[in-house]
Amino acid sequence: MYALLFRHVLSRLDPESAHHFAMRVIRLLGTRPLSPLVRRLTAPSPRLRTEALGLSFASPFGVAAGFDKDAQGAAGLWALGFGHVEVGTVTAIPQEGNPRPRLFRLVADRAVVNRMGFNNHGAAAAADRLRALRRRRSRPVLGVNIGKSRVVDVEQATADYVASAALVAPVADYLVVNVSSPNTPGLRGLQAVETLRPLLAAVHEAAASTPLLVKIAPDLPDDEVEAIARLAVDVGLAGLIATNTTISRAGLVTDAATVEALGAGGLSGAPLRARSLEVLRLVRAVVPPEFCVVSVGGVDSAADVRERLDAGADLVQGYTAFLYRGPFWARSINRALARSALRTGTGRA
Ligand code: FNR
Repeated sequence: MYALLFRHVLSRLDPESAHHFAMRVIRLLGTRPLSPLVRRLTAPSPRLRTEALGLSFASPFGVAAGFDKDAQGAAGLWALGFGHVEVGTVTAIPQEGNPRPRLFRLVADRAVVNRMGFNNHGAAAAADRLRALRRRRSRPVLGVNIGKSRVVDVEQATADYVASAALVAPVADYLVVNVSSPNTPGLRGLQAVETLRPLLAAVHEAAASTPLLVKIAPDLPDDEVEAIARLAVDVGLAGLIATNTTISRAGLVTDAATVEALGAGGLSGAPLRARSLEVLRLVRAVVPPEFCVVSVGGVDSAADVRERLDAGADLVQGYTAFLYRGPFWARSINRALARSALRTGTGRA
């Protein structure tokens, strides 16, 4: 059904318009009386309940940052079966992002390229919406991913991140410092360990008791991945998210001229799968067991989620395959995961 809708309707819309259409439907699903009805069809098996970051997740599988940039779809995404929603990236200063078009499908690669550039209504607006969401009795775990405002110089980044953290930490279940988006000039340079240490320490202080994680790029060399993982532990962070989108265009089926014509941006989806898994393994090998590792990148099936959990992820996220798989993606993953947990006796609760 969704495959037909995708082939004949959604894939003909420009991808950003298709996303806005999907968000309208998702927002509707988050309202009464629809949300409890849909939730009845999609609620994950109790076997999938997962404890991480001192929080209780209905499923280890959640929505990665960038899908619900402004905390408008979280109730609907919960109704569809996701255990957590990572809102954002939000910035201290509201911003429009890059000019459109800025989101492109690579259907043959089950991938997308985006250079959205943190379009968002700002951390204060997100905080207001999160405050309202938290009053709901039934809701997902709500993470908030923060980034640098574009108009702020990289040298002033710490104060800008701290301003966002101060606004959203009181209404977030966990907080993520995003230093890995390829679409804000200079942002990924903040991953250099000597720059990152004071930034993480300052945001950690502003986050107070809200668990803090850092999200990293897949394009870092292995030794830098390990160094950042050790740094995160050292600074007292609760966890790390691996990975953001890649600037690599290696191994694509889509012809090189078409890919080149799209221009700059982060690539996500199936082509990211192998490196994302590799980075997860690198991180898990150097952090203590109680440190939370969230794996994201190229996850498409329950087998992919299971593989990440088996490789040491505490939580798993997805975004791009949602566009290709459709609204019941989380439900089908949760169902298959629950069956595999039964077979192998590896229920995580
Ligand atoms: C993203 N991603 C992202 N990440 C982030 O930390 N902040 C953001 O604002 C965004 N925005 C964003 C927009 C779009 C259109 C896409 C496709 C992705 C990255 C996302 O959270 C995730 O890390 C990657 O997409 C890899 O996962 P998938 O898509 O391969 O499952």
